Amino acid sequence: MKSKANFRPAGAICLVGVFATILLFMVSTVAWADEPKPVQLSKPRTADSPLMQILAKRSSARTFSPQPLPMNVLSDLLWAANGINRPDSGRRTAPSAKNMQEIDIYVATAEGLYLYDAKAHVLKPILQGDIRAMTGTQAYVKDAAVQLLYVADDSRMGTLKEQDKLVYAAADTGFISENVYLFCAAEGLATVVRAGMDRTALAKLMKLTPDQRIVLAQSIGYPKK
Ligand SMILES: Cc1cc2nc3c(=O)[nH]c(=O)nc-3n(C[C@H](O)[C@H](O)[C@H](O)COP(=O)(O)O)c2cc1C
Repeated sequence: MKSKANFRPAGAICLVGVFATILLFMVSTVAWADEPKPVQLSKPRTADSPLMQILAKRSSARTFSPQPLPMNVLSDLLWAANGINRPDSGRRTAPSAKNMQEIDIYVATAEGLYLYDAKAHVLKPILQGDIRAMTGTQAYVKDAAVQLLYVADDSRMGTLKEQDKLVYAAADTGFISENVYLFCAAEGLATVVRAGMDRTALAKLMKLTPDQRIVLAQSIGYPKK
């Protein structure tokens, strides 16, 4: 019969340590075997479809030729941006949160400032004269033939919380802006979306109401040769 004097705590601790190490090794080996591996995707087929070709060309440009846009190009640009593509329902080329359609596009050209009325597909005159240079703080802004100003109308967003209004208006503007980017890539036009501007001065110049907020601007023109 073993006496209590034979019990060796150091030996027992050592044995527990060995078991713990083996267990840890087994657990880590199992975890390593289950580690998900990166999935290698196939090469993008950028030449295979018109959309993929256009996406491959999408980019921002900051040098513009002063050449004006022909009327049919401006007309197509605005329809692509946020025109009505389903006349039965009046829905647009760009999605909008809850279909609120709260973003208006103001168009500044050498002739004046206009509001794009998507329903009638007309440019409503707002101001006479060239305000393009005042639509941004960047030196290149004055050179581009057209400046688009994306303006959110809070009165069309009902009783949403203030933060939701800001998020939805920013997201909805992003979709319109990307439509413009893709149109420009397809048509060989230069474009850049812009946040840099004096919003207070510009809102005053554009005679915006207290419900209207300028979200972003976008310069469009022919590329400088
Ligand atoms: C919300 C937003 C604001 C931007 N503001 C400006 C701006 O004020 N001035 C400018 O030159 N570019 C501006 N850009 C363009 C970005 O600088 C550009 O998209 C970025 O450098 C990536 O280049 P890429 O569009 O050629 O891929 C803005 C882009 C976004 C999405």
